[in-house]
Amino acid sequence: MTTHIPREFIDQVLNQTNIVDVIDNVVSLKKLGANYKACCPFHDEKSPSFVVSPAKQIYHCFGCGVGGNAISFLIEHDHMSFIDAITELAKRAHLTIPQSVMQAAPVKPRNDLYELMQQATQFYEMQLKDAQAARAKAYLINRGLSGVVAKQFSLGFAPNSWDALIQHLRDQKFSLEDMITAGLVTPKDHNKAFDKFRDRIMFPIHDRQGRVIAFGGRIIDQGEPKYLNSPETPIFHKSNELYGIYQCLKLHKNLEEVILVEGYMDVLALVQQGVTNVVGTLGTATTEQHLQLLFRYTDKLIFCFDGDSAGKKAAWRALTIALPKLKSNKTLRFVFLPENEDPDTFIRQKGKAHFDATLQQASTLSEFFIQHLSEGLNLNIADNRAQLLHNANQFLQTMTDVQLQRILCQELSHQVRLPASEIMAMIKTSSAPGSAILSRISLSTMPSNLRKALAIILQYPSHALSITTPIVGASPNHLLLKQLLALIHDHPAITTSGILERWRDEAEWKELIALSAQPLLIAEKGLEQELQDAIYKMVSEEASQQIDALIAKAQKVPLTDDEKQRLNQWLKTR
Ligand code: CTP
Ligand code: MN
Repeated sequence: MTTHIPREFIDQVLNQTNIVDVIDNVVSLKKLGANYKACCPFHDEKSPSFVVSPAKQIYHCFGCGVGGNAISFLIEHDHMSFIDAITELAKRAHLTIPQSVMQAAPVKPRNDLYELMQQATQFYEMQLKDAQAARAKAYLINRGLSGVVAKQFSLGFAPNSWDALIQHLRDQKFSLEDMITAGLVTPKDHNKAFDKFRDRIMFPIHDRQGRVIAFGGRIIDQGEPKYLNSPETPIFHKSNELYGIYQCLKLHKNLEEVILVEGYMDVLALVQQGVTNVVGTLGTATTEQHLQLLFRYTDKLIFCFDGDSAGKKAAWRALTIALPKLKSNKTLRFVFLPENEDPDTFIRQKGKAHFDATLQQASTLSEFFIQHLSEGLNLNIADNRAQLLHNANQFLQTMTDVQLQRILCQELSHQVRLPASEIMAMIKTSSAPGSAILSRISLSTMPSNLRKALAIILQYPSHALSITTPIVGASPNHLLLKQLLALIHDHPAITTSGILERWRDEAEWKELIALSAQPLLIAEKGLEQELQDAIYKMVSEEASQQIDALIAKAQKVPLTDDEKQRLNQWLKTR
């Protein structure tokens, strides 16, 4: 889903945006010295710890730790996608969006199609009230659904007719072509067409803004196919959408936790029983987009799939999809219902309290990870433990969050009877260049000289231009510093916000924000010297370590040419 927006354009948008205006739109800011302050819009607080810096063009909350630039504010606060945020800021700054962005952006909303879907929804809803729909109504009641929930989800009924919808939409002046494009009508030869959904209970699928973009239609009682669904259309992409997300977001300003289920009826049954923080995949496997979307709104996700082998498989698939992008501040848990139960049958039979208790006992990510991978293995046998390690390794390698990786290794270490550190060392850091390596550094364990250097560079980028000490080390810390210096060298006018933008998707994002916001307690005229000193100390510490190591080695075995060259270089550095 990565979209290529030219970096220069992002920089330009940030340069022509004033973050104070962007945030003042939603939180009223008070000027305090060089900065602005407010009560944090991301957590409840009585005294303001949310700071906006016009100089750095960033915000940071010293209470809850959120922070970022204007782009991330729109993403975090207004739940916009990255492209939407750029588009919005560009619009406000009267900048013309490059063609490449336009092409990458979703197809322009087709107002006519949305309107058509809305009319169809109302038509189906009306039909459900009709006497003809007695069987459909009885079916829903029999499945425990009330009129309130039916209304909340705009449930409807498609009558048993070849053209009732076509007639209705034609009266509303919609073209047959649009009905076909919207996926509601199936074309037939000789300019003929018929209603796709007939004699079915209709479940409209809403997007996050509440517009109907597709339908699922269930047969009443038994029959095949049980569900008929809208095809992909210009306004509906199944793998991006979740059933019930509109209703869920409408009810919850802050979503502490979201339950992800598989079926329409599962969502409805849970809501009916008062479990309203629920959304459903649309009969597809969980996608990366689903997870990305949900983690924008919540930190905790619980998968609650059917209690059969297909449900287990779906859960495992979801786990493997989640692993590479998962961050340690997000949690994934898994509920496995008893065989032959789905969330709908389970909650109706056992009630909400029992369902809640089952959620409490959900397996954690690491529990499910290890349990699944050790299936069929006897961990008393060394070979089997090696097998488990091997199985786990291929998944651990895909991860980018070191903290989370460490947690999994710790859990695994009990099972395979090896220290976690050895397992960590074993995970071959796949040799992706640049950012992949960087994302493996834990900044909180960074040496203080590096922290100081980073804080000064981030807050006063132009000081970095005066650095003369060559940075020769290849450790992740040095690479990070080198990357920053090169960036500023190439873009001497870059702002704090522009620098941070490049780290948006990296594990260090939060820490870099904190370093950018942290008061420096150094007089401005002393900064350049402090920076020089910090870098000099950092490099010479590294040099001493490397030199000691190489000399120690040389006393045992002859050094390779490469090592000799490195030793020379380090000696020169010092
Ligand atoms: N599904 C589908 N087409 C089918 C079967 C299932 O699109 N023929 C999708 C639907 O979105 C359905 C989900 O997969 O909601 C889960 O399937 P299933 O568990 O069979 O359906 P339930 O939602 O449990 O529906 P019901 O309880 O009415 O059987
Ligand atoms: Mn079911």
